[in-house]
Amino acid sequence: SIPNYVKIVEVGPRDGLQNEKEIVPTAVKVELIKMLASSGLPVVEATSFVSPKWVPQLADAKDVMSAIQGIGHSRFPVLTPNLKGFEAAVEAGAKEVAVFAAASESFSRSNLNCSIEDSLARYRDVALAAKDHAIPVRGYISCVVGCPVEGAVPPSKVAYVAEELFNMGCAEISLGDTIGVGTPGTVIPMLEAVLDVVPVEKLAVHFHDTYGQALSNILLSLQMGISVVDSSISGLGGCPYAKGASGNVATEDVVYMLNGLGVKTNVDLMKLVLAGDYICQHLGRSSGSKAAIALSRR
Ligand code: HMG
Ligand code: MG
Repeated sequence: SIPNYVKIVEVGPRDGLQNEKEIVPTAVKVELIKMLASSGLPVVEATSFVSPKWVPQLADAKDVMSAIQGIGHSRFPVLTPNLKGFEAAVEAGAKEVAVFAAASESFSRSNLNCSIEDSLARYRDVALAAKDHAIPVRGYISCVVGCPVEGAVPPSKVAYVAEELFNMGCAEISLGDTIGVGTPGTVIPMLEAVLDVVPVEKLAVHFHDTYGQALSNILLSLQMGISVVDSSISGLGGCPYAKGASGNVATEDVVYMLNGLGVKTNVDLMKLVLAGDYICQHLGRSSGSKAAIALSRR
């Protein structure tokens, strides 16, 4: 059996845009976030408070946050890699944050310039500060099945990082197949290992669709009881520090599948398609969502 309701965490404005070379104007990002929120998405990850040298596209995080204060009913979490980012995020009005660790040492170094243990130590500080502000923290884990440098990642390593994030108080833990190499054959054993140490209701899945496996992996995650799914409008995305990584699974495709399964999301698919058209038009790109392309043709 699968959950009756799935919470979709839209990561397009953050994961979707962070890798875009051409700087997207702040006003376009804000309009995109507004359109996504108005489609009914409960959570729209808005931006990141990271080093602008590392991710120039999101250097306008403060302006984005100030422009979206109080709009709609969605929550707008932001990424914070350290206390400096956390403080800037709170100052800018963030009510929720996310920290991001990795299950592979090489990826931790290339994405955060530190080891897994050092990143976890930073995140304990963020989690403590967040507790003082009553701010929920989401914990991401990257490379849960494969790493661009190290190849296959053992499930035990993912379970270890998940347990650390859970113990420091993360309200939700999102398992990221950063480079989209996972298949049901590798995702199931990984989820089984994590489910041994973290309650299922705390888990989210975050699939990139490099090899076209994302929807299958999402379906099996639902069958294993997970009810939070990350996705990106029009399948935009990719991590600047994960060579060869393509976009996230497209939100439109996820909603289409969930509608077919009779699973509630509270998301209006046609409004979502309009949001996708808007950002694809701006980027001068065709949609990475098969559902959006099919629906636009009708
Ligand atoms: P570092 O160079 O080791 O940092 O980077 P540092 O502490 O030595 O500081 C260097 C400079 O950055 C200093 O400025 C700091 O003030 C500044 P300078 O004195 O040179 O002018 N700095 C900051 N500025 C703004 N905001 C901050 C901040 N912190 C330091 N928060 C650091 C370490 C963590 C900062 C860097 O590596 C970084 O920003 N990394 C972020 C990389 C990133 O955003 N990656 C993409 C998101 S993760 C992802 O996409 C995966 C996910 O989708 C799941 C999945 O798919 O797997 C979540
Ligand atoms: Mg990602």
